[in-house]
Order: sequence, then C-alpha cells, then structure tokens
Amino acid sequence: MEITNNIKYVGVHDKKIDLFEGQYSVPLGIYYNSYIIEDEKNAIFDTVDVNFTDQWLANVKEALGSKAPTYLIIQHMEPDHSASIVKFTEIYPHAKIVSSAKAFAMMKGFFGTDFSDRQIVVGEGDSLSLGEHNLKFFTAPMVHWPEVIVTYEEKSKVLFSADAFGKFGNRDLLDSWVDEARRYYIGIVGKYGVQTLALLNKLSNLNVSQICPLHGPVLSKDLGFYLDLYKKWASYTPEDDSILIAYTSIYGNTKKAVMYLAEKLREKGTKDVTVFDLARHDMSEAIANAFKSESLVLATTTYNADIFPPMHQFLKGLTERNFQGRKVAFIQNGSWAPTATKVMKAILEGSKNLDFIEPEIKIMSSMTEENKAELNALAEALLK
Ligand code: FEO
Repeated sequence: MEITNNIKYVGVHDKKIDLFEGQYSVPLGIYYNSYIIEDEKNAIFDTVDVNFTDQWLANVKEALGSKAPTYLIIQHMEPDHSASIVKFTEIYPHAKIVSSAKAFAMMKGFFGTDFSDRQIVVGEGDSLSLGEHNLKFFTAPMVHWPEVIVTYEEKSKVLFSADAFGKFGNRDLLDSWVDEARRYYIGIVGKYGVQTLALLNKLSNLNVSQICPLHGPVLSKDLGFYLDLYKKWASYTPEDDSILIAYTSIYGNTKKAVMYLAEKLREKGTKDVTVFDLARHDMSEAIANAFKSESLVLATTTYNADIFPPMHQFLKGLTERNFQGRKVAFIQNGSWAPTATKVMKAILEGSKNLDFIEPEIKIMSSMTEENKAELNALAEALLK
C-alpha cells in the first residue's frame, strides 16, 4: 500500500491476538503499522510484535527490493512496536537506529543491547535528511510512554504519530473509527490528557496532509475531525450531551430501577441514553463511554459493606484516567445497610469538577412507588 509515491506501508494485521496489552478485547484484531520512506537514504518507521517479525521483514524486503535500509526509526518502545528491532539489526548490520535517549536506555532494558556504535539520538526539533525528504522529530512524552517521539516529514507533509490517532481492530475509516479509537485512546493514554494536549499544541503549526499512526488506518481526509476529537478526549470534554447508565445487579432489582430511569429519560425526550451492565459488558467500552458522555448514572448494590466488584473496577478505571467535569448521579441498593453511594462518592472524591445530581436514590431490596417518583425526579434533573 502506498501512502505517497515514496512512502509505503509495511505493517501487519494480528488477527489471532486474544487480548491487546493482556487486557483489551480486540475481536477484529489489531494492526501493527510500519512504514518505509524511499529516498537517497531509506528510513523505516518502527517494527512490529514478536509474533510477526518474519512477516514484517518480508514486507520490508519486498518494499525495498535490492536497496538497503539506512535508518530504522523507533518512535515507541512498547513491545508491540519494538519487538523486532534485534532481528532487524542482525539482518541489516549497516542500518543506523534513530530514536530518543530514553528509548535507547529501554532497548538495553528489554534486549540487553548496546547500539552505541550505530545509534543516532534525536530529541525535540532535531532533523534528519533522507535526500528529498526531511524528517523533523518532536518528543511526545507519555503519549504513551516517556520515550515516545513523533516525526513530521516536510516534503510529503506526513505525520508519523506513534500511538496517537491509533485504533483497535481493522483499518476501516467508517463506522468503527470513533468508537474503537476512543476505546484505544481512553484505555491506553487516557490518564495523560495534559501531555496529549501538549503534543497537539506542538503539532498545531504543522501543515499535515496525512497521519500515519502505529495502529489502525492512515488518516488522509478531514483531519480536523480527528484532531477535534483528540482535543476533546485529551481535555476531558464530553463529546455530546448523552447519558450513560452503568450498573450492576445481582438478582435483577437494581436493573429494574435502571431500566425504569432509562425509559423515563427517553419519554422525556432524550434519545441518547446508553445502559451498560458492568458485569457483562466490555469494561473498556464502558469506561470509554463514560468519557464520551456528559452525564453518568451509577447504580449498584451494597456488597460486603462495599460495592459490587465490577462497579469497583469501573470506578477505578475512571479515576485512574482522571475522570472529571461530568454530571454524576447515584442509585444504591441494599437490603439491610445500604452503603454503596457512600463508597462510590469516596472513590470519586479526588475527581475534579463533578456535579453530583440529586436526588440520590436508595432502594431497599426492590423498587417502590416512592423510588419511582424519585427516579422521575432524577430524570428531570439530569435533563436540566
Ligand atoms: Fe501501540 Fe503504546 O504501544
């Protein structure tokens, strides 16, 4: 696949992986992207996961023909991109490795390698000429690890963005991009919004024609759309005024209250209400959707004088990603000593700018007529 006349795609599609990073379900697999720029000097951007080294090396060889690679540019050291470095250096002993100082230290940690005789250390604003193409490097600490760099090629105006703008699953640009790029960004980089905004700010003066991330499709059109979404995610701004109801239910009574609230919200004119059963739904999708929505309703049972475990996991997933700036409402259930709302509020204590919406609903085993009236009032309050 050609990105431009001189920039080619040499990545691979991992369709067999069960869990990305050992935790994220990826039913459509994940792409480990890699690119080649052909010029007087040839540069390869990043390697691939250890299970695809041979396939990637074959792609590289096919793309280069009889030419040799001059540079291997390592933008990110997470093993999904770095695991094939050593094999590459053995096959191409004259190629130089270009990366950040932190990345070379990590190579030593991961592989025990010392590339001091063939390394080129680059940092903020450094350039590297390939001939007609000129690479400009920008540091991108914590998007997603501290050693990350991104690269702008000035002739083609192509941005090699490392993990930024990546997505799980296929390289489809249509329906799935937003949902799967959101789940990827919030899950993997979501804690580091400040650092992501800093990178977006650095890149804002560049005239970018295409974005080549390390996962998912190359972005070639409507780049403003993707940049705006990234700005929202990085600044913890809701994408819309939707309402997410996240619940757990042991015997179905809390679920009945949740469904009653969802029905009342829809009756009162809200189209965008999403309900997630945290024990059964993909947790990373639930977490990502909490960052998408303006309002979050938390409904759970008291359990061991605490809260039901999936709700605990959900809230931890939010707080460790700096969940903030949302409306939050609470529904608790408990047959003799309900404490769930108190526990949930304590977990959210350090989260900034949360607006707790009244009334808080307390169910003693099953929903009563009084609870229904309170849920009606809560629906009204959420829609204000
Ligand atoms: Fe795709 Fe942070 O590695």
